[in-house]
Amino acid sequence: MAGSFQTVKGFRDFYPEQMALRNYLVDAWRRVSIRNGFVEYEAAMLEYLDLFRVKSGEGIVSELFSLVDRGGRELAIAPEITPSLARMINARIGGLPRPIKWFSIPHVCRAENPQKGRGREFYQWNVDVVGSDEVLADAECIFTLVDLLAELNLSPADAAVFLSSRSLLAAALASVGVANEKHEAVLPVLDKRDKVPPEAFEEMALKAGLEAAQIDRLRRFQDSTTLAEAIGYLEPTDAVATARAALEEVLKLLGAMGAGDYVKLDLHVVRGLAYYTGVVYEAFDSGRALRALAGGGRYDNLLELLGGPKIGATGFGMGDIVLGILLAEKGKLPDFAERCDCFIIDAGEGMFDDALAIVAELRRAGLAAGFSYKRQALGKQLRAAGQKGAAIAVIVGQELRDRGEVVVKDMATGEQAPVARAELARELQSRPRGLAR
Ligand code: HAM
Repeated sequence: MAGSFQTVKGFRDFYPEQMALRNYLVDAWRRVSIRNGFVEYEAAMLEYLDLFRVKSGEGIVSELFSLVDRGGRELAIAPEITPSLARMINARIGGLPRPIKWFSIPHVCRAENPQKGRGREFYQWNVDVVGSDEVLADAECIFTLVDLLAELNLSPADAAVFLSSRSLLAAALASVGVANEKHEAVLPVLDKRDKVPPEAFEEMALKAGLEAAQIDRLRRFQDSTTLAEAIGYLEPTDAVATARAALEEVLKLLGAMGAGDYVKLDLHVVRGLAYYTGVVYEAFDSGRALRALAGGGRYDNLLELLGGPKIGATGFGMGDIVLGILLAEKGKLPDFAERCDCFIIDAGEGMFDDALAIVAELRRAGLAAGFSYKRQALGKQLRAAGQKGAAIAVIVGQELRDRGEVVVKDMATGEQAPVARAELARELQSRPRGLAR
């Protein structure tokens, strides 16, 4: 009977090996956030449904896991954390010194169609700067994302950040004669351009009210490989100049921070979420074989839309699923074997209590000390130590015990020497920990 139960579609169990990978990613996310000056927060996982109706966009709202509680309230499991972040900051807006640099690693749920890189739940690293209109804030978030890629040994040949601008896209729409009130319907169509076949894109664009000539100009604008070329397709308005200057400044700042190799202009990036207003970006594997690794940008209206003041905000989210796939495919994951610094062996009758006392003492000293549950011959216990990946075996035998000593054996070299029992913890702490392999 029990065998017939399975995980719910799109949800994951984390067996120890998957848990080790998740912890590896979460540890790196936290380490990188902290060294880039962000502090951690966590938002409630259940929100009022309306929070996401305000400005997340159709895509996300149609993918909500929602419910009605016994009091008839419409609730949703958070599909992203940005609206909750805005809600939390609005509630304390007077008391928070700006810029507010916060990060979080929520477990979020979206009722998407599960496919490679996309599940119905995932962990999502979020890094945001709220309360700054400076391009420096965008650059600092993108630098933090690049810092994470480098921390996980992903080079620019493995993954990169593709940079664009919602304000430049809006200026492009205005420039080809698309009325402002149509932008909200047209931007999601442009966002889909790389994700659907050309005919499907054309059909969607016509349906959103674009004319064939407009579609063609927008296509050429998006396909530009340099900013100068893209601007060449637009009327020289103030909006174009401001958006261009912001993009150039971000690129300049990232260059100054040594992150330029990881960042490329790509006006195909639009972002699916409706709240973005300025610089936007997505990180992808360089071969573009996988779904997006991360996405973000500037959202200067969201706090105001949720009842707060009009203050600038910018940031990104990165999920654990695609990142894990990419690291595995590139062979960039460490060996996640359990940690065993040393393995304590009782050699001979009557030695087990001594061995156990040593296990306890070494564990108290912070070492991962293992031992065998079975009382076996020395050779078998040494084999068990090897299987556990212990770097060191400590052999407790009668003769040495009487002299207050044990034998310490280096499992990699096979060398062994007596060590005074009283010195053992200190001696082992000075050696490399972990695996002998
Ligand atoms: P998003 O583009 O919807 O943005 O998600 C960001 C990242 O979360 C994606 O690039 C991907 O790594 C991961 N992700 C999204 N959906 C799934 C899924 N179904 N399965 C696995 N991973 C997924 C946001 O959520 C924005 N709130 C990010 C942000 C923060 N913008 C500003 N601050």
